[in-house]
Amino acid sequence: MHSARGIRSHGRRSTRRWERQSLENLKKRWARPDVRLYSSVDSTNDVAKELAQDGVPAGTLVLADAQTAGRGRGDRHWASPKGAGLYFSLILRPDALPNPALLPIRAGLGLVRVLARLVPTARPALKWPNDALLGDRKCGGVLAEATWDGSRVRHVVLGIGLNVSAKAKDLPKPIRAAATSVQEASNVRVSRLELMDALLPELDRVLASPGDPMEPELLRDLDAFDWLRDRRCVLVEPEKEKETEGVAVGIAPDGALLFRPDAGPLRRVVTAHVRVPALDLPAY
Ligand code: BTN
Repeated sequence: MHSARGIRSHGRRSTRRWERQSLENLKKRWARPDVRLYSSVDSTNDVAKELAQDGVPAGTLVLADAQTAGRGRGDRHWASPKGAGLYFSLILRPDALPNPALLPIRAGLGLVRVLARLVPTARPALKWPNDALLGDRKCGGVLAEATWDGSRVRHVVLGIGLNVSAKAKDLPKPIRAAATSVQEASNVRVSRLELMDALLPELDRVLASPGDPMEPELLRDLDAFDWLRDRRCVLVEPEKEKETEGVAVGIAPDGALLFRPDAGPLRRVVTAHVRVPALDLPAY
C-alpha cells in the first residue's frame, strides 16, 4: 500500500479532472488549500481521515465521482452511483471550528439553504439533525467524524452526500421510497459544479462562527426549514431498548431537538434517529 501522497490500495483511483474542470482550476475556483479528486474511492471520509492524520491543512477537500463503500449515519450504506451525486469530505481543525457537536446540524442547514436557493419549488427542508429533504424525501445527508486527543478534538472530517441526478433505479431497493435526488424532485437539471460552487461558500459561512448557542440568523432558518416540527414521530435512541412516541416541537438554540413525548415532560434530545410513522418510510 502507498501513502495518501501516492497511489493507494482499496481500489482508489485518483484523477485530475472533475466536471470538465482541471484540479488546478477547482482549487482556485473554490479557494481551497488542497483538493484531492478521485474517480472512484471507498469513502471520501476515510481518505480525508488519513490525510488529516498526515497533517494536510484545514479546509482541504476530498471529492469523488463514485464511492464503493460510502457510509451514512448509524453505519448505514450511502449509495454513491458514479457521476450521479456529490460525495465529498472537508477536513476541519479546532482552531477554525465551532462547537463540534453543532457541526452536523450547521452543515445540514448549509445544504438545505443551497437547495432553497437553487430549487426552491422542490420544498427543501431539514430533518433534524442533518438530513436534507426535497418534497418529504431524503436527498442528502452529513456524516461528521471527529478524531480526539484525549478530551480535545484533533480534527473533524465532515462528509456530505447529495443525490443530484440519481434515479430511483440507481438507488438500493430498500430505500427507494424514502429517497430522491435534486433532479427527480425538482425537474431541474442543476449541474454538480453549480451545486459545489454554491455549497462550499455556504458551508464556510455556516461553519465559520464559533457561536454556541447558534446565531439568530441560523436559528431563524433552522426554524423555517424544520421538517419535523409539529409532526408525530418516534425517537429511536442509542442504548434505549424502547422507542418513544410523541411530537417534535422545534429545535433549541444549542441544536437539540425539542420533543414532547406522549407521556412525560418536554425533552431536549441530543442523539437519536427520528422516524415518522405516518409516512411509513424506511430508515435512510
Ligand atoms: C447520512 O445522512 O446518513 C449521511 C450521509 C453522508 C454521506 C457522505 S458521501 C461523502 C462522505 N463519505 C462517506 O462515506 N459518507 C459521506
